[in-house]
Amino acid sequence: MTGIAGFIGFHLAKFLTARGDLVIGCDNFNDYYDMGLKHDRAALLKKEGIEVHAIDLNDRAKIEALFQNAGITHIVHLAAQAGVRYCITHPEAYVHSNLDGFVQILEVCRKFGPIPFIYASSSSVYGMNKKIPFSETDLTDSPSNFYGATKKSNELIARSYHHLYKIPVTGLRFFTVYGPWGRPDMAYFSFTKALLTGSPIPLFAEGKMKRDFTYIDDIVDGIASAIDLSAQDEIFNLGHNSPHEVTELVQQLELATGKKATYNHFPMQPGEVPVTYADISKAGSMLGFHPKTPLSTGIKNFVDWYREYYHE
Ligand SMILES: NC(=O)c1ccc[n+]([C@@H]2O[C@H](COP(=O)([O-])OP(=O)(O)OC[C@H]3O[C@@H](n4cnc5c(N)ncnc54)[C@H](O)[C@@H]3O)[C@@H](O)[C@H]2O)c1
Repeated sequence: MTGIAGFIGFHLAKFLTARGDLVIGCDNFNDYYDMGLKHDRAALLKKEGIEVHAIDLNDRAKIEALFQNAGITHIVHLAAQAGVRYCITHPEAYVHSNLDGFVQILEVCRKFGPIPFIYASSSSVYGMNKKIPFSETDLTDSPSNFYGATKKSNELIARSYHHLYKIPVTGLRFFTVYGPWGRPDMAYFSFTKALLTGSPIPLFAEGKMKRDFTYIDDIVDGIASAIDLSAQDEIFNLGHNSPHEVTELVQQLELATGKKATYNHFPMQPGEVPVTYADISKAGSMLGFHPKTPLSTGIKNFVDWYREYYHE
């Protein structure tokens, strides 16, 4: 697993280990957000006997060394430069991890395999798509930001490796994943910090943007099913299929924290889209993917974790 010290990688590694799979992971522990959080996740994984190696995707020799005689059966590729705002100022970070790094891992997959390759794509590939809900058959050739463009490139590159080298490839388009041990750069996380410290919440577009918030445990179920299926060449939406306005997210955070929000208002940011909404009928029928966690429950779990972790 790549990106094992990341939010989704951490939860997936715990889940797979609990069901009896042997997980070996790597992460470069970069400073895009608080490295302490990544190291704390990794420390918990190591306590459970999971191997976590500090390696960059582009360090071919070290990645290949992990494969020597390890009997690796699947690659779950989650490492990437995430975030739709950071790409406006740091496109080169996305080239390094999402394009160069992606090809490096596929090359290893080819050399030691072919090994089934399950990788993280994103709802960002839908970009300027006007039709909702977003379906895997919709056109995805109008990304609204460079992050989305790299994720779309991943889907095309993976498909070409399947065609040329028969590597089984599965792309998973995640929709706004949230939960305990989540990412500090995401709105639900920074809003919680603002509420608990009495600071104003930066609210964009009056909070009218809608996101298909998807709880981490549901995402982990979907990824595990995709690993078990190891399809030849598929792409799946993994979202909750019930978008909520950002104002509703704030209401749930107010309920969970017991604090009243104040706001700093801003216009919609470049690269953002007004709505994300996943059609999950394909994942439902092929992966048995049926998200169960309502926003209220998921946000309460997140806030409970946040208070314990930060002692607030
Ligand atoms: N969380 C979401 O809402 C969401 C939505 C859509 C897609 N995704 C995708 O899912 C995947 C996991 O996301 P996440 O939320 O866990 O993000 P995350 O940033 O918490 O995890 C990614 C991990 O990859 C590592 N990494 C980045 N570049 C690397 C490199 N060059 N070499 C080695 N490690 C590297 C980072 O240190 C980080 O720990 C990413 O590919 C992301 O683009 C996430």
